Order: sequence, then C-alpha cells, then structure tokens
Amino acid sequence: MLVSAKEMLQKAKAGKYAVGQFNINNLEWTKAILATAQELNSPVILGVSEGAGKYMTGYKTVVGMVKGMLEEMNITVPVALHLDHGSYEGCLKCVEAGFSSIMFDGSHYPIEENIAKTTELVKICEEKGLSLEAEVGSIGGEEDGVVGAGEVADPKECKSIADLGVTMLAAGIGNIHGKYPANWKGLSFETLEEISKLTGDMPLVLHGGTGIPEDMIKKAISLGVAKINVNTECQLSFAQATREYIEAGKDQQGKGFDPRKLLAPGAEAIKQTVKEKMELFGSVNKA
Ligand code: 13P
Repeated sequence: MLVSAKEMLQKAKAGKYAVGQFNINNLEWTKAILATAQELNSPVILGVSEGAGKYMTGYKTVVGMVKGMLEEMNITVPVALHLDHGSYEGCLKCVEAGFSSIMFDGSHYPIEENIAKTTELVKICEEKGLSLEAEVGSIGGEEDGVVGAGEVADPKECKSIADLGVTMLAAGIGNIHGKYPANWKGLSFETLEEISKLTGDMPLVLHGGTGIPEDMIKKAISLGVAKINVNTECQLSFAQATREYIEAGKDQQGKGFDPRKLLAPGAEAIKQTVKEKMELFGSVNKA
C-alpha cells in the first residue's frame, strides 16, 4: 500500500536522519529502488516529474505499476509515490490518479499567488490524506527543461508557507539540480538555520542531492533536512553501466541483446547508488 510521506518524514526529522526521494523513469528504475529500500529496511519516496509521468504514458500508469510492484515484490517498507515539482494542474491530476504525495512548485509565482494556490492544495490533500510539499525560492539548474536561478529563500516567506499546513517544505539554499559548477559557493547553512528556527517541526527538503559533498549533507540533516531528492546521480550511474556493458561488447554475446540483459547492469548500478545514499542519509533500518 502506498502511504503519505507525513509519518516517515516526521519520524526522520525527530530522529535526525533523512528519507531519500529517488526519481523514477521506467519499470527497471522503480524495481531497483523498491528492491533496495526493502533490502535495507528503509522508507523511501518515489519521485515522478511531470516529464517522467508523461514518458510513462501518464500518472495512472505510474500508480498501476507501483502498486502492482508493492504487491508482487512483497514490499513492506513505507513507500510514498510523490509528484516532483508539480504545476497546480499536475497536482490535481496526481491526486485523481492515486498518488500518495504531491509537490506544488509555486516558487516561480509571486509569494501571494504561491500562498493562494498552496492553500487550495492543503485543503485537498487533508481531505484525501496525502502529503504536500511546497517550495519557496526556486532551485537552480535544469528540471524538465526549466532552468531555475538557484535562489536563497526568504526565511519569513518560508514561515508563511509552512504555516498554511503543508507537510514538508523545500527551500532554496543555494542548491541546484544536476552537477554543481566548479565555482559553486556551497549551501547557505545560515539561511537553513534561520528557516529551521522559524518553522519548528516542519520537515525540510533538500533538492539537488546529486554532487553535494557528504559533510554538507550531514550538516543539512543536523539542521532539519528530513528529505533529500536524488535524480541525476541515478541517471549517471545507469548510463555509465549501460555504456560499459555495450563497449565491452557484452550485448553482442550469447543472448546479450535481450533487453532484460541489456538493462540489467544499469539497474544494478542504480541499486548501488540508492544504497550509498540511504546509508549516508541514515534511513537504513528506519522502516
Ligand atoms: P538532482 O538531479 O541534482 O539529484 O536533484 C534531484 C531533485 O532535486 C529532484 O527534485
């Protein structure tokens, strides 16, 4: 059964660890992430961007696939199926399709509009028992073709959004999606500390989990981050493992052309990445 992310994130915040959100793109990724979460007895959040949802033919397909896997793979750890960076319309579609969690990314709206739309979604999510993530201060880098500037959020605006009753809050603190440039200044822990003080028990979300040095990840968790999103690193490990398999000519041997064999090294690489992240975030054996 899919669960809301509320309980797992409140526990994580109280226990000073973070639950990983790993974005999914297809059956192999989903299966690899679920198998790893079960093996490590860790709660997990499956993230679906609007682009990935479209690629998988729509949100209903995603819900059907994930629910089927939970049953067929005997998954007993808590799993939330979460829309990543949703538009207002995308959020409504995912509620309808059966997601257990959504993110409304209103960070590009003026704060008043972000508040108005988030308020509407708080009502809907409360009625249906879903968790809701809001965002203040856009995360830099590229997400589905949209390039954000990597703002540092205003802690007072964070408090206004947190007070609306959202489940978790993503605040820009200099983090960006994808690889970090060589001249990256690092995370703004000052801002994170201030947001944490103002928002109390609210689980905070760190986007752009790929490429943040381990000591910064640990410090962010100690300052109230309870959910960390990872996407690019799984993509890179999947691509590299697939490339190595092909370059070694293994796809030309025996039944190597079998798509199940061709995709297997990439899936194994994703498992390894997810394992390393769960260990770093401290969510192992927290199911
Ligand atoms: P990365 O692609 O940098 O891991 O970020 C993922 C993310 O934040 C998804 O919302």
